[in-house]
Amino acid sequence: MCGIVGYIGRKDAVPFLIDGLKALEYRGYDSAGIYVTGSGAVKRAGKVAVLASSLPDTFSGNAGIAHTRWATHGPPTERNAHPHTDASQSVWIVHNGIIENHAELRDMLIQEGIPFSSDTDTEVLSQLIGTYHTRGDLLEDAVEKALKKIRGTYGLAVMSNREPSKIVIARLGSPLMFGVGTDEYYIASDATPLLSRTRNVIYLEDGELAILTKEGYVVRDMSRQPIEKTIETLEWSTEAAQKHSFEHFMLKEIMEIPEVIQDTLRGRVATKDGDAVLGGLRDVAKRFKDVRRIIITGCGSAYYAGFVGKHLIEEFAGIPVEIEIASELRYRPFTADPKHTVLLAVSQSGETADTLEAIRLAKKQGMLTLGIVNVVGSTIARETDAGIYNHAGPEIGVASTKAFVSQLVVLILVALFLGRMRTLSTAEGKKLAKALLKLPEQVRTILAGRKAIEKIARKYSNVENVLYIGRKYQCPVAYEGALKLKEISYIHAEGYGAGEMKHGPLALIDESFPTVALAPRDSLYEKMCSNIEEIRARGGKVIAVTTDGNNAIRRIADDVIFVPKTHEALLPILTTIPLQLFAYYVARERGLPIDKPRNLAKSVTVE
Ligand code: AGP
Repeated sequence: MCGIVGYIGRKDAVPFLIDGLKALEYRGYDSAGIYVTGSGAVKRAGKVAVLASSLPDTFSGNAGIAHTRWATHGPPTERNAHPHTDASQSVWIVHNGIIENHAELRDMLIQEGIPFSSDTDTEVLSQLIGTYHTRGDLLEDAVEKALKKIRGTYGLAVMSNREPSKIVIARLGSPLMFGVGTDEYYIASDATPLLSRTRNVIYLEDGELAILTKEGYVVRDMSRQPIEKTIETLEWSTEAAQKHSFEHFMLKEIMEIPEVIQDTLRGRVATKDGDAVLGGLRDVAKRFKDVRRIIITGCGSAYYAGFVGKHLIEEFAGIPVEIEIASELRYRPFTADPKHTVLLAVSQSGETADTLEAIRLAKKQGMLTLGIVNVVGSTIARETDAGIYNHAGPEIGVASTKAFVSQLVVLILVALFLGRMRTLSTAEGKKLAKALLKLPEQVRTILAGRKAIEKIARKYSNVENVLYIGRKYQCPVAYEGALKLKEISYIHAEGYGAGEMKHGPLALIDESFPTVALAPRDSLYEKMCSNIEEIRARGGKVIAVTTDGNNAIRRIADDVIFVPKTHEALLPILTTIPLQLFAYYVARERGLPIDKPRNLAKSVTVE
């Protein structure tokens, strides 16, 4: 997704702007550009390094904005890169989001004789602002008037050579914040670029606009009413967001999982009561008393985590759970009885557009909305009625690993929390609590055996298709395992409920089409063995993931990966990690850009 940075203060803006764009590279982009007071604008297709090396030595100034663009309208070319300007070249803007009525506005402006120089929707905005500004409006008022004309979403930073010591920023549907320094301000579309400069941050809410100068800032709404904002503190350390000695963020983040589970559990497991302590739900706990249905929604891995959550909550709390992919849910009429339905949204970034829209729809219907979110202060975290932070730290690799595991841990805590409010016994609760606390050490055991997984991955790194199968708690893990492989190795992979094999997928099987079978010694193990045997009978290769000590499975599987034994409900946490490592090593063997796979971005903030 696109990235925005800006600076205004007493120092030269360029160092922060370039460092900031580099810190945002992980979000995925295809062009970059910069505008600095007194030096003008430079834009380039390709990487930030290309832009940086194109800047003249004299390129400097104490206020500026910069942008990495992920093409949505118009190809990734220099002319479509941001910043965009107006006909008089006075106004310069960088924009995240989509302007839905850009075509009609473009036609209207062209009718008025305004020449366009790009194919982007964003230029409509810079031209509109320029029209008002050159007629005499203050920059902030010109921005406000232009924003009232558009339909769509924006995270926006605007400058003008007529008012060079000012930056105007605004947000609707696309995150934007600014760091507060000493007589200097750092603008960014996510916290990563701020970490090396300041910990004090102000998040803009939707519909807010801020005017920043060296002397200070004013935040107001779209009716020009001033708004008092709280300065919040960023908790992440820079090194936490930077790669350590690992070759890729993805491997670093998988290796962090033991600590992530500890951080996610910290202060939330009441072992003596066999209960979960979820401070974020305290204020809404009473509304859970008469909840009759829970809808869990999310996208991608977050959705698959919710799928595991369905099994957990239904088993331990006895509450019916519907799971819905957010991009589908948001277009369906909510037939649920809102007063007795809770919407639980899962999102690592807290900015996924489809998930956010599903939440807004549910809120409009009067539902209680909860979020399981990793990024503190993200839009979903702030728009849901309550929620639980993952505390998984920044996840930089596009493929979700530690955040996915943390989502599973939180969902177990939610199931325990709800179950203990209902009929789940203290003894059962204690069993779960005890098993949770053993997870970090059990994960370390799996990570210690990663070389064996690498060896298996190497053996299968040239296949073109892989099937993943599992049952009950392991069915969502099959879907998630397939997603991991396809998104970083580009191998076609699909997840299936193992019981479905005879209803179609078995036709796929031959010696060139291996299967990963999730077959821990759980309540459905025997059925998984039948699946494995029917695959092998047709020449299909099988990689089985099973629990320690189950050596008998070697008789029916070609390759076996062992995980420690634990409570059946917690097994998805352990079985998913070998699948993350398998995908990682296959993609590494194929020499692919693992942290930034082609066509994908870390946070999908547009539809
Ligand atoms: C998972 O590996 C993918 N990166 C993707 O499916 C991701 O889970 C999805 O886009 C949801 O993102 P979110 O958790 O930030 O909402």
